[in-house]
Amino acid sequence: MSTTRIDDSLSIRGGRLFIEERDAAELVREFGSPIFVVSEDQLRRNVRRFTKAFQDGWPDGPVKIMPAAKANWNTAIQRTLIDEGCGCDVYSAGELSVALAAGCDPECISVNGIPKDEEHIRRTLEVGARLTIDSVEEVDALERLTSEQGLSARVRLRLKPTLSTFIERTDFCAEGLMPTDIAALGYKGGLMFDDVMRIAPRLRAMERVELVGFHQHHGRHSRSTRYWQAQMKAYAGEIARVCDALGGFEPREIDIGGGFASPRDPHNAATDYTTPIQYGALFAISKLLQTLGSKPRYRVLRALIAQIAGHPNTTMAPSIEEYAAVCTHTLLGELHRLGVSTEGVMLQLEPGRSMHGDTGIHLATVKGVKSVTEPVGWKVAALDTTEFWFTGGRFEHQVHDFRVANKADAELVEKVDVVGRSCYGDRLLPMVHVPALEIGDVFAFLDTGAYQEVSCSNFNAMPRPATVLITGSEATVIRKAETEEDVFRRDVVPEHLRVKPPLAAAAGDS
Ligand SMILES: Cc1ncc(COP(=O)(O)O)c(C=O)c1O
Repeated sequence: MSTTRIDDSLSIRGGRLFIEERDAAELVREFGSPIFVVSEDQLRRNVRRFTKAFQDGWPDGPVKIMPAAKANWNTAIQRTLIDEGCGCDVYSAGELSVALAAGCDPECISVNGIPKDEEHIRRTLEVGARLTIDSVEEVDALERLTSEQGLSARVRLRLKPTLSTFIERTDFCAEGLMPTDIAALGYKGGLMFDDVMRIAPRLRAMERVELVGFHQHHGRHSRSTRYWQAQMKAYAGEIARVCDALGGFEPREIDIGGGFASPRDPHNAATDYTTPIQYGALFAISKLLQTLGSKPRYRVLRALIAQIAGHPNTTMAPSIEEYAAVCTHTLLGELHRLGVSTEGVMLQLEPGRSMHGDTGIHLATVKGVKSVTEPVGWKVAALDTTEFWFTGGRFEHQVHDFRVANKADAELVEKVDVVGRSCYGDRLLPMVHVPALEIGDVFAFLDTGAYQEVSCSNFNAMPRPATVLITGSEATVIRKAETEEDVFRRDVVPEHLRVKPPLAAAAGDS
């Protein structure tokens, strides 16, 4: 049987897609369709690569990988990460709960994000997790909790260095051309130098509060290593400036955040702008042709539509090792140049999409194929999934690479709009080239391990699909599929709106 490797976890064997040692289309038969599938092996491989690559470049102190829980907060996934020695970056109270439930040492948990309410801060201190200070209001709450209620806190300051040396179009706003440095400044996270100077002396004067270091997270404005070079340069500069202003403060922890792209990088696929341009051209030409009458107009449009094709991103992002080399080299070099000691300093990072992205695939089945032949040609393949189960990606204009799992090396012979089952247009893969499709074929959307399953909604009262974990050749459900009962579980009907028994039955009762 011929085998072609796609990456470390995906391969094509005898024309069929495998994830680790399991035939993807067979998983649908066993567990139902659609499903999310996650490779435990790939997740472990990713952690080990991150740890080694960053530790190789940071010899002065320990490295702690603290994956962003938001990217996949499933309990079994968190257990795997903690089993591999990871800490955890948590945003919400719920993510703090899952990190603790999964057995993460609170010393290795960082609570980030704004706004944090007082209850969230109290719990952070009570369990002994690290608090990232990101607003003046948090300092007020901290003061109350430590002085009046005797709680202790380990905190670090989230800095917001200006990225003036990297000015490209940000991937954050797919529709626009906002420059990276301005988009990063507008993003809600981080404190400007003046706020840091208002906050830091207060923190250092608090009896039960220990300032342990700094944090930054700029987000995924670009996958380029030049972006990371610019970030590290700016971050080191800001750290040196703050340390200096605080009279020679020496951080014990430096956290560089997340935002590294995952290999096939569907998250930045919006950088392929050809489709909107094609539709723009189609619109302009179709308006111009209106005067010709509908027959000639449709003849031209038919030819133009035949040319439009969607392409998942094919440019691979830099590898974990390349990101690590740039980050550690630049950060170390700049900190030393600016006189900040890194002896014994713990380097932390919070990969989300790059830790989880390529661990997951989403499998869905073709339920219908429809063609329009007149006045223009258009073919639609309808799947039993929906963009409402890709919402993490929809916000970011993602286009996932895909394979037809049971025809993984078949020739691509036609072009279809792959759509989902909600009542919206639900275009999952606009105008892509596919093998000859039949009802029952299984689509595998690649790189769905980050943000997708955890963002699913119940639009159209659709129960959300299950998640299956693959460990070598073992397959285990780690999140059950919802039932219709689950979908309506939170609904409450007030007394006056309750369904009344039919009149006759009611009369018969009395
Ligand atoms: C503080 C923080 N760290 C890490 C991440 C993870 O980012 P990514 O998934 O782009 O790596 C996020 C994402 O929003 C974040 O807010």
